[in-house]
Amino acid sequence: MKNLAVIGLQWGDEGKGKIIDLLTPSFDIVARYQGGHNAGHTVCIGQQRIVLHLLPSGALHPEKLCVIGNGVVIDPRAFFEELETLKKIVTLDEKKIIISARAHIILPYHLELEKIQEEMRGSKKIGTTFRGIGPAYIDKYGRLGIRAGDLMNEAFLEEQLSFNLEQKNIIFQHFNLPPLDKKNIIQDYLEFGQKLKPFIQEITGILNEEIKKGKRILFEGAQGALLDVDYGTYPYVTSSNATAGGICTGLGLPPSQVHEVLGVVKAYTTRVGGGPFPSEAEPQMAIKLQERGNEFGATTGRPRRCGWFDLVAVKYACRINGVTKLALMKPDVLEDMDEIPICVGYRYKGSIITEFPPETWILEEVEPVYKSLKGWKSTISGLSSWEELPARFKEFVNYLEDNLEVEIVIVSTGKKRSETVIKEKKLAGLINIQEVKNCLI
Ligand code: IMP
Repeated sequence: MKNLAVIGLQWGDEGKGKIIDLLTPSFDIVARYQGGHNAGHTVCIGQQRIVLHLLPSGALHPEKLCVIGNGVVIDPRAFFEELETLKKIVTLDEKKIIISARAHIILPYHLELEKIQEEMRGSKKIGTTFRGIGPAYIDKYGRLGIRAGDLMNEAFLEEQLSFNLEQKNIIFQHFNLPPLDKKNIIQDYLEFGQKLKPFIQEITGILNEEIKKGKRILFEGAQGALLDVDYGTYPYVTSSNATAGGICTGLGLPPSQVHEVLGVVKAYTTRVGGGPFPSEAEPQMAIKLQERGNEFGATTGRPRRCGWFDLVAVKYACRINGVTKLALMKPDVLEDMDEIPICVGYRYKGSIITEFPPETWILEEVEPVYKSLKGWKSTISGLSSWEELPARFKEFVNYLEDNLEVEIVIVSTGKKRSETVIKEKKLAGLINIQEVKNCLI
C-alpha cells in the first residue's frame, strides 16, 4: 500500500491544491506536515472556487481523515474561520479533522513581531504573508513556543507565556508599542484550547495504527521546494521544510513510509515576495503571463512575479525531494506563444553553471541562459486525453521529461477537475483511476 507525497517544485503556487483534491479519492488520509495558513491551495469544483489555507485539501472529501501535523503552525482563529467558511460550501465532518498535540500555536505577538522584522529589513524585505509564521517557528526552535496540547493546562500556559512576554515586551517597548497583557492572552488561548480540544490528538499513534490497517496517506506539501528553509533561496524562504524531508519530522513518520513523491510544476515560473528569480520575465511579458495565468496570490491577493520554466531549479528540486513522478500545470497559459523560453543554465562571471547554487547572492547575480522551444500554437485548454494533445506540445513535455529524468504523468489543462490529462498506466498501482474519474465533474 503506497503512500504519496505531493510537493511543489518551484516557489509555491504550482497548483498542488488541484492535484491533491484529484488524487484524494485513492487515499484514506490527507496530511499536512509544515507551514500554516500562509498557504493558499485553490480547488475548483464545478463553478465553485475554494481556497484552503490551513486545512488539508482532503477536507473537501468528508470521508477522509485530515491530519494537521506537528510540523504545522496553527493560528486557532484562522483555523476556526476556515472551518466556518468551508462548512458553508461543503459537507465537513469535524471528527475527521485531527491536529497534533505537538503543533505549535501562532499567538498575537507573532504577527506584531513579523511586522517589526519586515519593516527593519528595509529594501531587503522577504515579502512574507504576515500570518505570524516566521516568528512562531522562531519560538519553536528558541524553545519558547506554545503547543496545541499546552492550551489545556492553565499553569503551564501561564509559565510559558511569562517567559515569552518578558522578552517580547522589551522589544515592543523599544518600538513604542503597548505591552502585551498576559491575562487577556491566557484567557483567549485557554478558550481556544477548549474549542480545539476535540481536534487535538497524539497523531503518531493514530497514523501508525492506520498504516497497520492498510490505510494510505497522501502527504500534502505547502509552499514549494525553493521556499524551503534549508534548501530554498535563503533568507527569502518560508520558515519550514517544505521539501519531502519535512514529512518525517512534521508527522512523526519514518522515511520508509514515503513511497512516492509527485512533484508539481507549472509550465512557467512564479514567485510571490522578494528574493532572486533568475528566469523572471521582462516586465511586459511578465504582465502578460500574470494576466493569462491569473497569477494573483490565493492568500494575500498579491500579484505574482512571473517568468520562464527554470530547468536548473526544478532539476535540483527533483533531486532533493526524490521526485518519482511529475504533474505539469497550466501549460494552456502558453498555448499562443510562438517560442517558449526554458532556462537551461545560469551565466555567472563568464562561465555557465547548471547547478542551483546554495549562495543566494550568486543567484542574485546570475543571468539566465535560455533554450527556445517551438510553441504548439493550438488550444489545449480543457483537454482531458493524451491523444488529443498536439504533437508539438508532446515534444515540449518530452523535452522536460528528458532533462528532468522524471515522467510527467498528469497534465492540467484548466482549473476544473475535469480539465486534466492523466496517464493512467503510469499511475497504476498508485491511484485507483476509476475513483479519480468519478470525481472528474
Ligand atoms: P511566510 O511564509 O509568510 O513567512 O513568507 C515567506 C515567503 O514565502 C514569502 O516570500 C511568501 O510570499 C512566500 N510564501 C509563503 N507561503 C506561500 C504560498 O503558499 N505560496 C507562495 N509563496 C508563499
